[in-house]
Amino acid sequence: MKVSSAREIAGSSERFPPGVRVGPGALIDDDVSLGERTGRPGRSRGLEIGRGAIIRSGSAVHDGVRIGDHLEMGRHVVIRADTTIGDEFRVWDNTLIDAGCTIGDRVQIHANCYIAQLTTIGDEVNIGPGVCLVDDPHPGSATHLCMRGPTIGRGAQIGTNATIFPFVTIGERSLVSPGSVVSRSVPAGLVVAGNPARVLKSVAKVTCPLDVEEGHYLGSPRGSCEEAARGRAGELSS
Ligand SMILES: CC(C)(COP(=O)(O)OP(=O)(O)OC[C@H]1O[C@@H](n2cnc3c(N)ncnc32)[C@H](O)[C@@H]1OP(=O)(O)O)[C@@H](O)C(=O)NCCC(=O)NCCS
Repeated sequence: MKVSSAREIAGSSERFPPGVRVGPGALIDDDVSLGERTGRPGRSRGLEIGRGAIIRSGSAVHDGVRIGDHLEMGRHVVIRADTTIGDEFRVWDNTLIDAGCTIGDRVQIHANCYIAQLTTIGDEVNIGPGVCLVDDPHPGSATHLCMRGPTIGRGAQIGTNATIFPFVTIGERSLVSPGSVVSRSVPAGLVVAGNPARVLKSVAKVTCPLDVEEGHYLGSPRGSCEEAARGRAGELSS
């Protein structure tokens, strides 16, 4: 079903400021704001969104943002200036993605999250509702010279209401359990929980609590599965 009150956009559109380019097949609600937020007319760095985007009511994407194909944005989502995002990005209602972030392909960010400035998020990361990724090691600094959001490795999962400190790295495929406060970097493939977060176990040891799913509870990032499948196909055909 199409988004109510959305208008289908065939390509770059006259309804947006100069420099805003939206790919074909987009569905964008009427009160969405795309483009310049510099407050200085004529200084636009442009905005590019790939094909097949869905952008719902009350959302805004600011100047200098680049987003790949098949974006899906909920209501009242804001993506601030100079953030770069890959393909198949899904973000739910009321999330704020601050300026200068780098986000990979097939990333999902749930509702009510704050993604701080200069955060890096790898491919196939899942971020649960109410997560805060923060960027300021000493709030109140007038210079803001040492601000940077965390780095979330490929395929990592961040549970609901977790808080992750500035400069912290979450390793590939690690799981941050709900409500954790992560103040130190986490190596790849581990489960951490608590405040301050401590290592519980390897993700390979996480099993389905209901025994519904067999094998590893946390699947591999899609790329790895595809590579493994290609590898198996190669073995079969050789
Ligand atoms: C981390 C997790 C995988 C552990 O599951 P498990 O292997 O069944 O382990 P348990 O639930 O037995 O927990 C082991 C210990 O860690 C504690 N613990 C688990 N998660 C915790 C958390 N988020 N915060 C604090 N302590 C936690 C448990 O209380 C238990 O402590 P105990 O040994 O003193 O009783 C599970 O708690 C989890 O977080 N799953 C993912 C949920 C999620 O993020 N969903 C998406 C949300 S949007």
